[in-house]
Amino acid sequence: MTILGISGSLRRGSHNSELLRAAADLLPPGVELDWFDGLKAIPPYDVDDDVEPAPRAVGELREAIASADAVLFATPEYNASIPGVLKNALDWASRPFPENTLRGKPVAVIGASTGMFGGVWAQAELRKVLGAIGARVLDRDLAVAAAHAAFHEDGRLHDDQHHTTLENIVSELVKEAERDLVPA
Ligand SMILES: Cc1cc2nc3c(=O)[nH]c(=O)nc-3n(C[C@H](O)[C@H](O)[C@H](O)COP(=O)(O)O)c2cc1C
Repeated sequence: MTILGISGSLRRGSHNSELLRAAADLLPPGVELDWFDGLKAIPPYDVDDDVEPAPRAVGELREAIASADAVLFATPEYNASIPGVLKNALDWASRPFPENTLRGKPVAVIGASTGMFGGVWAQAELRKVLGAIGARVLDRDLAVAAAHAAFHEDGRLHDDQHHTTLENIVSELVKEAERDLVPA
C-alpha cells in the first residue's frame, strides 16, 4: 500500500516536511510513503490550459494521487489560510470534476506552524477544500505549534501526545485505505 505525502511548504528545512517524515516513520509494515515534491513546478491554474494532455507537472500530480491508496497532507498556515501553491495544486487536481483523482480518496490533514496555534485554520480550510473536491477526509487533526522547537534531532516529535495523535491518524488513514482493497 502506498500513501502519498504532500507538504504544502516548498522551503528546505520545512517543519511540515519534517512532520511528514515523522509520519512516515510510523507507518505499519507493508505501507510506504511516496513523496510528491512537484508543487513548485505546477503552473497557475487556468481553465484555458486545462486540456488534454495536461501540463506535465499537473499530469504528474494527478498520476501520483491516482496511483496512491491515500494522501497525507502536511500544511503550513499562511495568513490564516492554505499556502497558495497548495490551493493551486488542488484546483488542478479537482479537475475534471466530479471524476477527479481525489474523489473518494482517503485523505488526512496535519500541520505545523511556528505560531501558537499550529496552523489550525489552514488545516480546517484544507479539510473543507478537500471535502468540496470529493475526497474522503478523516475528521482528525494534528496542529503542532512552535514547530521550530517541536522535533528531536532524530525527527521524532517531543510531545508524546502529538506522537500518539500522529500514530493514530496514520493508522486510521491506512485502515480507511484498506477498506477500498477489500472486495465488496
Ligand atoms: C507568508 C507567511 C504567512 C504566515 N502566516 C501565518 C499564520 O497565519 N499563522 C501561523 O500560525 N503561522 C504563519 N506563518 C508562519 C508559518 O507557520 C511558519 O513559517 C512555518 O514554519 C511554515 O511552515 P514550514 O516550516 O513547513 O515552511 C506565516 C509564514 C509566512 C511565510
